[in-house]
Amino acid sequence: MWLVTFLLLYSLPKAHAEDVGTSLYFVNDSLQQVTFSSTVGVVIPCPAAGSPSAVLRWYLATGDDIYDVPHIRHVHANGTLQLYPFSPSAFNSFIHDNDYFCTAENSAGKIRSPNIRVKAVFREPYTVRVEDQRSMRGNVAVFKCLIPSSVQEYVSVISWEKDTVSIIPENRFFITSYGGLYISDVQKEDALSTYRCITKHKYSGETRQSNGARLSVSDPAESIPTMLDSFQSREVKAGRLVELPCIASGYPNPAVRWIKDGRPLPADSRWTKRITGLTISDLRVEDSGTYICEVTNTFGSAEVTGTLTVIDPLRVTLTPKKLKTGIGSTVILSCALSGSPEYVIRWYRNTDLVAVDDYISIRGISNETLLITAAQKSHSGAYQCFATRKSQTAQDFSIITLEARRWSTPGSSSP
Ligand SMILES: *[C@@H]1O[C@H](CO)[C@@H](O)[C@H](O)[C@H]1NC(C)=O
Ligand SMILES: *[C@@H]1O[C@H](CO)[C@@H](O)[C@H](O)[C@H]1NC(C)=O
Ligand SMILES: *[C@@H]1O[C@H](CO)[C@@H](O)[C@H](O)[C@H]1NC(C)=O
Repeated sequence: MWLVTFLLLYSLPKAHAEDVGTSLYFVNDSLQQVTFSSTVGVVIPCPAAGSPSAVLRWYLATGDDIYDVPHIRHVHANGTLQLYPFSPSAFNSFIHDNDYFCTAENSAGKIRSPNIRVKAVFREPYTVRVEDQRSMRGNVAVFKCLIPSSVQEYVSVISWEKDTVSIIPENRFFITSYGGLYISDVQKEDALSTYRCITKHKYSGETRQSNGARLSVSDPAESIPTMLDSFQSREVKAGRLVELPCIASGYPNPAVRWIKDGRPLPADSRWTKRITGLTISDLRVEDSGTYICEVTNTFGSAEVTGTLTVIDPLRVTLTPKKLKTGIGSTVILSCALSGSPEYVIRWYRNTDLVAVDDYISIRGISNETLLITAAQKSHSGAYQCFATRKSQTAQDFSIITLEARRWSTPGSSSP
């Protein structure tokens, strides 16, 4: 105990003196995509920063500098990139639909953000629609909000109305996570109402109201199951929740059975069967697979097959985080990755791709180790390990300082 305390006291002043110096950091290293409405414009703070304050610069992914374009694009003194609202005739793909990155530089070195996809979305006319439906008393009815494919990515259902009154999901009314309206145990009086969806544009904030659709309700008649809603494929991040819809009409009411990769569903509290579909919470990579939903009544059956892909986001850890050592030392940087495999690693020093030479080598099965032998003062700087897999990118960096030795034996390495 005494010894530990002594060592801590002894080592603290030294570590302190070094750490008070300069540092670089990321304000937001998950920022990789910015979509904005052309009528609103966008303000993007540089995701990288430094202390004491760093010089922040924006570039295009091609390496080209960003220049100010009056009333179109401006980089503020605080490193914030601003793209102003613009009319369709002023659209310039180099400015409004391109990959950018930002760098932060101070005496510790220079780091760069991952590429950030910046994309403008135009205001375009569109309407949303709901089709009339038929159902049997006691059965289920499904209304879908039909959004044109050109804007599907940005427009989502925010609510449903029954006779212009917002529907609160309860009793027989359900709103699925994909914006569908389900009515269970359909009653004759459901035919007296009109049903509309209300949507909102994610970037312009505009809302739209659909036409009013009607439901015609008939008396139950024996019939085989017919699918009303299902899914083909879903890609979701680990840890999130997914709802896989599967619902059918038919009389008697069909029973629903789920099969994953040829087996019944695992008995796990993360899996819940609801009228709106199969809900899986806290998703894990092993939940990926082929799902079959089978609906059966006494007159027959129907089934749909869909695939679920759970992606584990890439995470990168570079060690050591910070290293101050004598000139002539051997420096080893290890880039550890977690998440889905099949990535490509790239190394940067002060935002330039590391070139292998007499001093520097890149080793390991996937280039995960950077080795500097007999390191020179010029090898000081910020080293970054970037890992890319499909559209995912993750990075971590390390500040290396090489200084003249005072008491050490030439050629030996120090921690
Ligand atoms: C970081 O960026 C992500 C992706 O754009 C965003 O969702 C998140 O709110 C940002 N976080 C901060 C602290 O700005
Ligand atoms: C940077 O400056 C601009 C313009 O003055 C301002 O709108 C923005 O909020 C500032 N951003 C930060 C991160 O301070
Ligand atoms: C390692 O890096 C070299 C170039 O530096 C590249 O040619 C090679 O494909 C990389 N290997 C892997 C597994 O990424």
